[in-house]
Amino acid sequence: MTQGERDLKSEPGVAVQRFTDQGSYLGVPCKILDIPESIPALGYGSHQFFRYYGKFPSLVGREIIARFHQPGRPVLDCYAGSGTTLVEAQIRGLTSYGMDINPLAVLAATVKTAYYSLPQLESAFVAVMKAARAPGPARWIPQSVSGEKLAKWFSREAVEHLSRLRTAIEDLEPSPEKLFFLTCFLAIVRRTSNAFDGEVRPHVNKEKKPREPFIAFENKFADMRAGLNELDEMRPEKIAASCVLADNREVAAYSDLFSEEVGLVVAHPPYLNSFNYLQVFGLEFMWGEDLPELWGDWTMRRIRAAEHKAWPATDVDLVERYYADFFATAKAASARLASGGVLAVVVGDATVHGRLEPVHRKMWEGLTELGLAPEEIWLRTTHYGIGKYAYSHRADYHGEARKKDAILFLRNP
Ligand SMILES: C[S@@+](CC[C@H](N)C(=O)[O-])C[C@H]1O[C@@H](n2cnc3c(N)ncnc32)[C@H](O)[C@@H]1O
Repeated sequence: MTQGERDLKSEPGVAVQRFTDQGSYLGVPCKILDIPESIPALGYGSHQFFRYYGKFPSLVGREIIARFHQPGRPVLDCYAGSGTTLVEAQIRGLTSYGMDINPLAVLAATVKTAYYSLPQLESAFVAVMKAARAPGPARWIPQSVSGEKLAKWFSREAVEHLSRLRTAIEDLEPSPEKLFFLTCFLAIVRRTSNAFDGEVRPHVNKEKKPREPFIAFENKFADMRAGLNELDEMRPEKIAASCVLADNREVAAYSDLFSEEVGLVVAHPPYLNSFNYLQVFGLEFMWGEDLPELWGDWTMRRIRAAEHKAWPATDVDLVERYYADFFATAKAASARLASGGVLAVVVGDATVHGRLEPVHRKMWEGLTELGLAPEEIWLRTTHYGIGKYAYSHRADYHGEARKKDAILFLRNP
């Protein structure tokens, strides 16, 4: 039995063990949520499919849902990212909806919550590898960058093999399997490049020995197949999850996606002064250029304009816009909450030139002004050390915490 299954099956006991009461904070009960697990332990099921920088630990999604879902009502994540909440909702048997402005996130979230036949995936995989290794020239290379820029990030052999893989996948008929392989392909781009794997924004690492794309793809496929197996043991059958590319400030985006009221909205906006998501995935976008499965009828220009910018917070207009974007989204999303439903905001404070920007407090105040009723606050712990989920520059409750990583819960009265 996996760690994830043990937690789910032993609830509510496990949920209580992770929490320490902290009395009252901002007028509501406050708890500390401890997540000491290593990154591999948090990557059960499909959570490990795609390395999405800035995602929250799977157990954050799990605990929010365990405590605040409404039985029978769907869960919405309006900043879905790579679909952590959607996977956890599915494991719990709840329908879920997600939206995100990053096409890579939407693809990953879709694949992480799709149901597959393993034999079908395996035979399609054999066909993809056969086509990729077939003799003949590579038919495609990225168009959006110069040869010089491409050579900065990838060896000639990596370009050749990535091209072959992409073409072999592109040649597949439209199908869920095709999306699975595209995710697998885009997930290996960073490790086949000269960029640091662990750094958020791509930087050249002169010491790195990039992985050979065919081998990386085969290994990634094996890991994803194992994760899918594990997920299938954890989730009930036929639990719908849909994630779309949309601007979460747009009221119409919600009615395009679903018609019923939801019991829980999860919102995990970009953290102020951390990074802008689109910049981080430059290499993956290079290799995902012009794929209709990724872009639909969106262009990078339109996506960039809609993205909530979080960096640099030294720009006062940007900070003002950051809050305005968040409140526009919170208003649009919470309008879809059933009466008694809960909005959960996962958010971290920022420091700007050493000055604390109390993001969570400002959001808390603004959300109560929107008419939502304060319910509860959780603070997340930080764990240091290799392999731990570490946020050394964010929040630390082991001492006097200045900068908080908070989960705010407000109820639709
Ligand atoms: C902190 S991440 C969410 C990560 C997610 N919880 C996960 O576990 O993968 C914030 C997300 O907000 C998205 N975002 C930024 N502006 C947006 C917008 N206008 N509409 C929808 N999503 C947006 C970013 O693309 C990013 O994926």
